[in-house]
Amino acid sequence: MTTLFVNIKELLQIREPDEKWVAGAAMKVLPSIENAYLLVSDGVIVDFGKMEELPLVDFDVTEDCSDRIVLPTWYDSHTHLVYAGNREQEFVDRINGLSYEEIANRGGGILNSAKKLQETPEEELYEQSKHRLVEVMKMGTGGIEIKSGYGLTLEAELKMLRVIKRLGEEFSLPIKATFLGAHAFPAEYKENQEAYIDIIINDMLPKVAAENLAEFIDAFCETGYFSVDQTKRIIEAAQKYGMVPKIHVNQFTVIDGIQMAVECNALSVDHLEVLEDKDIEALKESETMPVALPSCSYFISIPYTPARKLMEAGLPVALASDYNPGTTPSGNMNFVVATACIKMKMTPEEAINAATLNGAYAMNLSKEYGSITKGKKANIMVTKPVPSYYYLPYSFGEQLIDKVMIHGEFI
Ligand code: NIG
Ligand code: FE
Repeated sequence: MTTLFVNIKELLQIREPDEKWVAGAAMKVLPSIENAYLLVSDGVIVDFGKMEELPLVDFDVTEDCSDRIVLPTWYDSHTHLVYAGNREQEFVDRINGLSYEEIANRGGGILNSAKKLQETPEEELYEQSKHRLVEVMKMGTGGIEIKSGYGLTLEAELKMLRVIKRLGEEFSLPIKATFLGAHAFPAEYKENQEAYIDIIINDMLPKVAAENLAEFIDAFCETGYFSVDQTKRIIEAAQKYGMVPKIHVNQFTVIDGIQMAVECNALSVDHLEVLEDKDIEALKESETMPVALPSCSYFISIPYTPARKLMEAGLPVALASDYNPGTTPSGNMNFVVATACIKMKMTPEEAINAATLNGAYAMNLSKEYGSITKGKKANIMVTKPVPSYYYLPYSFGEQLIDKVMIHGEFI
């Protein structure tokens, strides 16, 4: 099947095959072609260029994109999309004055979701998660990472990971799985943390690895959750099975987890709402992608990741949704991009770079996905008629993604 997109108002994010990410001042630039064509064949981008240079080609379908922007799909590198039920009562509790920490200390938060998930049959968990995945794909997500971490028992963690695996088998977009057994200490291990770490390392990890259920390892490295030392031990144990670290860190407090994650060659460090100069220094010269999650900051009213500071230090930034029932009940990447512009003062070019190529990098997909590059997979979206790509974050409440193509097929 060959699709020819013609009269594209502007084709965005054109990159060379060896551009693994975009960093620092280069994030201000979003290479593009106005009045362009794009040719997709057998699920792959085979050609593109200016309309006036359109060669004579065979095609099965043409798509007229007059007044429309065409760009790679969003790559959402940090989600907890598989969960059971919701936490709307905690949402109201926060409106009435309780903090995220106070709610967690009362047994709410992650443990509330874990209880619900443990009680939910696998089939029902699949159905709830599938519904969310369908919705985010319609909004332009063409590659996604999904974490476990609401199971917190061997059985329930495996249930989550099997649901993630099944989503990956039944949906065409690339789905990457992360094992996050170290998301919170179950209540019965609060006073005996070592026993839970032991379960993660000696019971959970070997089973997750044996069933090949996760490519990445994550932990919530945070005061009151997993210490830097505990996180490091879990990472090192997982690395023996070939899992690559992607770590929740610096959400509420600075505890030198970034330095440790960089030393462990983490693929990404995620959240970074609180960041000190020494953290930025640690990230320089590393291959670790800093990932910002602005919808989380928005929803629970915490600081936004200082993306400008990261970029001024020459670093790359990726944007992801953090879709989860507690801190971000939304997987809308258009909102993420708009919020990054509005609240983090990222320019539209920076935000689009962060949510496409850099997002793909943060889940080890950027060799094949994330830009308009000959030979890359055709995961592409077409906007509704818009005056320019600035309009996408500007008109932040509008659903402006018209069509989404995954591996050459419209969904
Ligand atoms: O990324 N910070 C840790 N984990 C999730 C939220 C977990 C929850 O509240 O359910 C996050 O924000
Ligand atoms: Fe998260």
